[in-house]
Amino acid sequence: MDKFIIKGGRRLEGEVTISGAKNAVVAIIPAVILADGPCILENIPDISDVSISLRILYEMGAIVENLGGGVYRIDATPIKEPVVPYELARHMRASYYFLGTLLGKFHRARVAMPGGCYLGDRPIDQHLKAFTALGADCRLENGMIDISADMLIGSQIYFDKISVGATINAILAAVRATGLTVIENAAKEPHIVDLANFLNSMGADIMGAGTDVIKIRGVRQLKGTSYAIIPDQIEAGTYMVAAAATKGNVLIKNVIPKHLESITAKLAKIGVNVEEFDDSVRISVDGPLVKTSVKTQPHPGFPTDMQPQFSTLLCLAEGTSIVTEEIFNNRFRYVDELRRMGADISVEGRVAVIEGVGKLYGAPVTAPDLRAGAALVIAGLAAAGVTEIDDIYHIERGYENIEQKLRALGADIEKRTVPGTAVRKDPAAM
Ligand code: UD1
Repeated sequence: MDKFIIKGGRRLEGEVTISGAKNAVVAIIPAVILADGPCILENIPDISDVSISLRILYEMGAIVENLGGGVYRIDATPIKEPVVPYELARHMRASYYFLGTLLGKFHRARVAMPGGCYLGDRPIDQHLKAFTALGADCRLENGMIDISADMLIGSQIYFDKISVGATINAILAAVRATGLTVIENAAKEPHIVDLANFLNSMGADIMGAGTDVIKIRGVRQLKGTSYAIIPDQIEAGTYMVAAAATKGNVLIKNVIPKHLESITAKLAKIGVNVEEFDDSVRISVDGPLVKTSVKTQPHPGFPTDMQPQFSTLLCLAEGTSIVTEEIFNNRFRYVDELRRMGADISVEGRVAVIEGVGKLYGAPVTAPDLRAGAALVIAGLAAAGVTEIDDIYHIERGYENIEQKLRALGADIEKRTVPGTAVRKDPAAM
């Protein structure tokens, strides 16, 4: 097993370039199946969730070529069997996007129940509601989700709960259906807009992505396309917080500042300087950080995927901060780890009360999930002494070259494989 060893206490300084967005790419890679020709995808991050998505396509029969520099050519036209087995699906939550895309193309899909970060209950009832509205029959048998439809017919879909995954799956299933689909109470995240732009570049007719009403007029065919993925807003936010936590001065390049507004606003509120440029932001700190309250919300609210990182920063701010997690019901599992580093946080249900402690201390900790793992990296960078983070495979699901990027900013971080422990096999190294 690999771990990170961080000698903390160094200010981060310099420039870092943000990679393509994980949550866009894990939807766009399966969406290639909908095209009747090859697609070229650019700005693909080298993270394990991408290798798993590519591996699933490859195992199903697609031709996947790595052209280098984050560019892939994918021809999914040889795929004939719309089945994703458990062994592949279990590694990644987003494997459920193969449901929507296979249903959209073949009118049939058989995909194992998804894996991914444990953040509390993660039902998929809204996904199934969308498929059913389009005329599909959905069954759950022996851990497999089985969906089929004689015909997919455009429909009105109202989501009872705002869901990124269900919105994406509804778009994927409806894009080649007959007639008009209207999705109401849709999620508005930047990666939903990116998926819609990708599909429109293939010839789809999707309007309103980025608002809560999305209209999709089904088309018979979609052609291959060339498309560059947007930058990752959560990776950018993570480096913004890391820079602030170490009282550093970092230019974060290749970002869309509009996507970062809720993060920027909270950082400014606690005393961090944020300068915005066309496609970069500079983070610096020249005074004390102060308490605030944060409530996670669907986009454009404060993202739940930044909650653990921001809570870590608030440990270093003066005063008592309140963090309320509105999206998931168990997203404070990292708090026990932070406490080992000297944090003073109490959690009651979905609310964390954080007493600023000014300083954290290095300790051995374990990453419980992807963003919590990133939060522990930030804690380690800011802490006095050495922090060892176990289970970093969670972090590698979503952060490209994190230790190289941090080292280039002056951090003392190294990845170490502990001898005698099993190396976690990435089923998808390609
Ligand atoms: C996606 C992101 C994840 C992010 C989350 C919220 C991807 C691959 N993952 O996850 O990084 O943390 O959005 O921004 O893009 N819900 C239901 N029924 C459903 C679906 C969801 O009740 O059918 C609930 C969930 O339990 C949760 C809330 O809706 O409480 C939001 O979940 P959702 O937006 O679907 O998250 P994911 O798509 O799983």
